[in-house]
Amino acid sequence: METIKIALAKGRLADLSLELLEQIGISFSSYYEKTRKLTFISDDGHYELILVKAMDVGTYVENGAADIGVAGKDTLLEAGADVFEVIDLGFGRCEFAVAGEPGTELSAQQSLTIGTKYPKITNDYFQAQGRQVETIKLNGSVELAPLVGLSDVIVDIVETGSTLKENNLEVIETMLSISARLVVNKASFKTKGTAIRPVIDQVKSIVDEKGRVTNGN
Ligand code: PRP
Repeated sequence: METIKIALAKGRLADLSLELLEQIGISFSSYYEKTRKLTFISDDGHYELILVKAMDVGTYVENGAADIGVAGKDTLLEAGADVFEVIDLGFGRCEFAVAGEPGTELSAQQSLTIGTKYPKITNDYFQAQGRQVETIKLNGSVELAPLVGLSDVIVDIVETGSTLKENNLEVIETMLSISARLVVNKASFKTKGTAIRPVIDQVKSIVDEKGRVTNGN
């Protein structure tokens, strides 16, 4: 069997994805050893895990450097990755929102400057409303931007809301809900379909089952 390469985003998404893979019998014991390694072979030797930055999962999968990947919908949208998005995994849920100082009114602002890690999503969102905005690309700690006068508002993901709260900011407009997605390289889907399809089917049945339990059906 040809090795199937799986790209995961370092951090919490990788941990949740690995839990899911373990449930379908794909284990990477070496991942849990304290190491700076970025590639790991599964215990059965059939899969290779590659650990990448969240924003790059789509790029690795689109270019075939990985056959499968798990990434947040936010990063897939921002990267504009041309991949098959096959399953909404249901974890890593959060909201995209415009946030700013309490009482900020977007419609009251003639020109709007927005600090964000996601300039493409931000531009697309406001363009769809027929509104021209200026985005300032930041790489983190985005909440700082309106506090120090770098931007009027921010566009960012909100999970618990505590980062906004602790910086005296609030959600001004909710944009869209996001979650982790299983994505597949378009060519691999055909050429390695025999190996990839069972993985998709088994992951899907676990996710569906979890959904049924959660919804009490
Ligand atoms: C993300 C995001 C927010 C925060 C939202 O940042 O950009 O800042 O998490 O989570 P919360 O609603 O639960 O507080 P991240 O932790 O990735 O750090 P960063 O600012 O360095 O990008």
